[in-house]
Amino acid sequence: MNVVMIGAGYVGLVSGACFAEFGAHVTCVDVDEGKIRALEAGRIPIYEPGLDDLVRRNTGAGRLRFSTSFADTIGAADLVFIAVGTPSRRGDGHADLKYVYAAATTIAAHLEGYTVVVDKSTVPVGTAREVRRIIREARPEADFDVASNPEFLREGSAIGDFMRPDRVVLGVDSPRAEALLRELYRPLNLIETPVLVTDLESAEITKYAANAFLATKISFINEIADLCERTGADVHAVARGIGLDGRIGRKFLHPGPGFGGSCFPKDTRALIRMAEEAGATCRIVSSVVAVNEEQKARMVTKIESALGGSLTGRRIAVLGLTFKPETDDMRDAPALTILPALLERGASIRAHDPQGMEEASRELPAAVSFCDDIYSAATDADAVVLLTEWNQYRGIDLARLKAQMRGAVFVDLRNVYERDAMEARGFSYHCVGR
Ligand SMILES: NC(=O)c1ccc[n+]([C@@H]2O[C@H](COP(=O)([O-])OP(=O)(O)OC[C@H]3O[C@@H](n4cnc5c(N)ncnc54)[C@H](O)[C@@H]3O)[C@@H](O)[C@H]2O)c1
Repeated sequence: MNVVMIGAGYVGLVSGACFAEFGAHVTCVDVDEGKIRALEAGRIPIYEPGLDDLVRRNTGAGRLRFSTSFADTIGAADLVFIAVGTPSRRGDGHADLKYVYAAATTIAAHLEGYTVVVDKSTVPVGTAREVRRIIREARPEADFDVASNPEFLREGSAIGDFMRPDRVVLGVDSPRAEALLRELYRPLNLIETPVLVTDLESAEITKYAANAFLATKISFINEIADLCERTGADVHAVARGIGLDGRIGRKFLHPGPGFGGSCFPKDTRALIRMAEEAGATCRIVSSVVAVNEEQKARMVTKIESALGGSLTGRRIAVLGLTFKPETDDMRDAPALTILPALLERGASIRAHDPQGMEEASRELPAAVSFCDDIYSAATDADAVVLLTEWNQYRGIDLARLKAQMRGAVFVDLRNVYERDAMEARGFSYHCVGR
């Protein structure tokens, strides 16, 4: 089976490599020549655990290729996946579909023989039909179907998520398209992965509803954390107490600085716009977004209070910049809101992140300095703020850290450490919700 992935970003590259691992012949096509040249030279442009091995194995076996040419690749494809970005449109929060529609136009120009064009990008309801209209208008005679196959992988565990998904959602309106997609995903039958076949619209909404629900859990526990903090309760005990209820579940009940990343912020905003356009209300998701913004502001206030109420002239070491560990993705990371707010209030910042500093240095104000190791970031700091729970921050030599600092404040926005142990080491310890 010949597969073309349009877009070789987080989703296109990981899905493409995994489809190749399933046995398909895959070409990832991207308009970014630098990215394709790097991939051809064996360099992986993103940090994703295990991806370099997977790509090497499948390029070596001749099942995975990279190209900037649509003309050379689309004609031979049985399935063409659109895996381009769908960022928030500036100003209104709607998903910006210009890359999806550009891809559809290009695909139309090169279709040969029966082909299924599949939206893997996260796209608002109605997009698959619009993709079909664009292609049909350009090529009235073309033999093709459209389908929607939203992707649920998480950065940092993308390969495992793709190879052992909780489910595969296939939005189709043709048995032929369904058969080809089922064939592509057939290796997952061995592990009895549920394959949910729906209409196009339901598949499109499923992706937004899933992300909005997970974001809701995060904003919910962040509000409960605030209540715990004000009343002397421990949010971990509460999260466990509710999470053990099978109807609720334990995942996504970790308080922190708010959700970020390339999906939840933009997808919740897009869902709200989608609902508005459809004349539906989306009050819960609107509150989830508002609570998330407040949470980031609350973290700034928390750091300020930990330092005695003023940040003027204070030196802060920030550990972790990416929105979560095991990725270099800085898109909508809480750090991008929290660090500028700390600077504005007069603090100076030395930051460390195992993978995200290159990207962060492009996104954060020039006043932030970056350090190659944790201890130099902490040198002469009044406070250390743990913002992302990378594994290496779990094993910090705390005595060495404290010896580097001029103050003793440790603000743990991920609740990695225990209060008693930190206080026993002489830290003034502050965390979230306990
Ligand atoms: N990143 C994730 O964890 C994740 C998870 C699930 C779903 N998604 C969704 O998948 C989609 C892609 O996200 P991503 O994180 O992989 O984005 P990305 O920005 O990492 O990659 C998109 C790629 O598409 C390329 N591109 C843009 N226009 C193109 C065109 N016309 N032809 C060929 N290539 C083109 C870009 O150069 C880029 O390399 C989005 O809709 C996103 O919401 C992302």
